[in-house]
Amino acid sequence: MKAKITVLGGDGIGPEVTGEAVRVLEAVAARYAHEFEFVEALIGGAAIDSSGSPLPPRTIDACRSSDAVLLGAVGGPKWSDPSARVRPEQGLLELRRVLGLFANLRPVRTQAEMLEASPLKPEVIAGADIMVVRELTGGIYFGRKTRTAHEAEDVCSYTTTEIERVTRVAGRLAMGRRKHIVSVDKANVLETSRLWRTVVERVLAEEYPEVQLEHMLVDAAAMHLLRRPTSFDVLLTENMFGDILTDEASMLVGSLGLLPSASLGDTSVGLYEPIHGSAPDIAGRGIANPCGTILSAAMLLRHSLSLETEATAVENAVSAALAAGLRTADIAGPGTAAVGSRAAGDAVISRILS
Ligand code: IPM
Ligand code: MG
Repeated sequence: MKAKITVLGGDGIGPEVTGEAVRVLEAVAARYAHEFEFVEALIGGAAIDSSGSPLPPRTIDACRSSDAVLLGAVGGPKWSDPSARVRPEQGLLELRRVLGLFANLRPVRTQAEMLEASPLKPEVIAGADIMVVRELTGGIYFGRKTRTAHEAEDVCSYTTTEIERVTRVAGRLAMGRRKHIVSVDKANVLETSRLWRTVVERVLAEEYPEVQLEHMLVDAAAMHLLRRPTSFDVLLTENMFGDILTDEASMLVGSLGLLPSASLGDTSVGLYEPIHGSAPDIAGRGIANPCGTILSAAMLLRHSLSLETEATAVENAVSAALAAGLRTADIAGPGTAAVGSRAAGDAVISRILS
């Protein structure tokens, strides 16, 4: 098949990790006889530097006219002044909004050969397989923001429609998995959470009656994710709780650098990005772990291009490379030699081509 993929490297390690993911996609194209066209565009701090805007119109056009978007990361100390008028992160949030990407899928799966990479006990994390569904275009991220010299506010609001549509995504995913959803909220305190609970319950009862639903308060969920991670199947939650809980959940697999994500809407083009940030401390050194971005590219193949065989081939190649001992600096234990981003990409590519 032919596909046009917009690549937004962004800031820090972003271009390094998307570079490896593009090489992997090129290997997939060669191996399975597809034609992928890659179009690069600017976002975040890099875009601010060149045009003053973190999401220039040209970038939006490129994304809209492509089949899928692959993104690295945005942000960095250069643009972090709290009084700055524009911030790199605005580019990413605005892109999610204009593309209507309300459902963010963040799979977290531990692998037998990788258990020692996690700071947690192997017997606790073995077999964990969680699909986090994070609402992505609502809540406190997108509510009204005000600021005076002595006061600031960020409004958290959710509509029924926003909760319904993300619940449907979680319901559909749960049906293909273990049919269990933990919906995470703070219903003992927040009004938005009480609406969330009511809507999630209704939608699942009406449309996915086979799915077993459990509600959990976010503070308890933060604890249970570490205490009994294998008891979670699909974890459905609102925007900010999902942001926080997935950084936490990355410790089950050992590194933020390993987790991919897919951001999907009803009809629009999908956006695929690792869950990690721009890691300015290691940027430009060629040592970042590209696996989260490579696995995001696998999700791109699956969700935007319907290439399930190819997606699985990429995921299997990453697992096999990790099982064979491939370790970038973030997951290399003491005394283990670490490989760089390029070598990590090569290890995945050679397995796809063989
Ligand atoms: C993420 C990131 C973003 C978020 C930032 C960069 C705006 O942390 O994708 O998890 O908070 O959504
Ligand atoms: Mg985050």
